[in-house]
Amino acid sequence: MTQDEMKQAVARAAVEYVKGGIIGVGTGSTANYFIDELAKVKGRIDGAVASSEATAKRLKSHGIDVLDLNSVGGMEIYVDGADEITRNFHMIKGGGGALTREKIVAACAKHFICVADQTKLVDVLGKFPLPVEVIPMARSYVARELVKLGGQPKLREGFTTDNGNVILDVHGLSILDPVVLESEINQLTGVVTNGLFARRPADVLLLGTEHGVETYK
Ligand code: 5RP
Repeated sequence: MTQDEMKQAVARAAVEYVKGGIIGVGTGSTANYFIDELAKVKGRIDGAVASSEATAKRLKSHGIDVLDLNSVGGMEIYVDGADEITRNFHMIKGGGGALTREKIVAACAKHFICVADQTKLVDVLGKFPLPVEVIPMARSYVARELVKLGGQPKLREGFTTDNGNVILDVHGLSILDPVVLESEINQLTGVVTNGLFARRPADVLLLGTEHGVETYK
């Protein structure tokens, strides 16, 4: 099975969790496969909350209503991919640059269902550079502070987030305590949020493998 086939398989499996109401939808290639599957059962749901402009566009192209998060009380489920995930369900996200909106929508959902292929499962987070969304004028200051934390930040060139900010991708971290590091980085003045999803980890992992989809809860 190719990596794309594994992503499609977990997207199909995630639709089993769609029982109705409003669905939170993540960003990225795996989330895109999920949107395509969600379209097949769109009559079952009241609409979706999107974690990025790209996701909103894809949902709309399938005729799925995109709702403003401020107009919904909450969601049963949020479905999204990850760049890395551990067996404790701690994740690095933000490879697509949508980490802040992803974290906001995830915070409003009762259950976070992570859809990922087997290449994303790791013992220790940090091989994938940790994305940090930063207010543009704070870029150099935050970069210096991230160096003090042991990382090597690199500006994501030519990229602006949906919120008008920049991303620093932090290389060289071996993240042994993701809950602590998530808070520590978020405390830096000028940081909007970072791509560690540890304080609010996933609740379910649907992992695409060569042998099929494995479910971890
Ligand atoms: C986007 C994300 C994505 O979930 C993450 O990058 C995984 O993407 P893909 O499903 O394309 O591998 O966090 O900001």
